[in-house]
Amino acid sequence: MLEPSAQPHDEVIRLRRDLGGALQAPAWPAGFVLRTLSSAPDAASLHALLTEVFPERRDETFDAWWQELSTDAEFDPALCFLVFDAEGGLAATAQCWTSAYLKDLAVKPDARRLGLGEALLWQVFAAFHARGAAHVDLKTHTLENRDAVRLYERLGMRRVPLE
Ligand SMILES: CC(C)(COP(=O)(O)OP(=O)(O)OC[C@H]1O[C@@H](n2cnc3c(N)ncnc32)[C@H](O)[C@@H]1OP(=O)(O)O)[C@@H](O)C(=O)NCCC(=O)NCCS
Repeated sequence: MLEPSAQPHDEVIRLRRDLGGALQAPAWPAGFVLRTLSSAPDAASLHALLTEVFPERRDETFDAWWQELSTDAEFDPALCFLVFDAEGGLAATAQCWTSAYLKDLAVKPDARRLGLGEALLWQVFAAFHARGAAHVDLKTHTLENRDAVRLYERLGMRRVPLE
């Protein structure tokens, strides 16, 4: 008799970081600087980064994307964290909704494994702690985003019901 397949399957999960305990200060790798979204060129760079990192969004036009993002009731440019490299290129982003929700975390392929993803997460936790949030949530895929899941869990994010 054939055994049922033990292959893991890709699943959407919700992860949560409680902000009650001590938080680590973000440690930015040398040569990288953080600021928040503040101009039309920032928006264009962010769109280019997101469509590069998430292939399923490659066909999303800038105008449609920006219209949807900037008119969302939970959009706040102060929660759109951008990390630039020494040449001024956008290397990474964490874009959050005001509901203490991390919508997109993305690091350019050539800037990965330097600590930018981790530093951005600490930045996001600190920003929502300062706004009085009890926790930060996100949704991700267990297999498709397995590198990200490892990072999230290392920084204390834990699975909660999807809602
Ligand atoms: C997931 C993602 C955001 C991680 O970004 P990152 O900047 O590479 O993250 P970090 O550098 O903080 O950590 C990644 C790894 O590099 C390691 N690392 C960090 N600094 C390092 C250094 N100086 N030298 C060597 N390794 C280092 C970390 O320990 C971690 O190791 P692990 O994969 O074994 O856990 C990035 O891979 C990405 O954009 N992926 C595609 C988009 C995506 O999946 N987004 C999340 C959707 S939910």
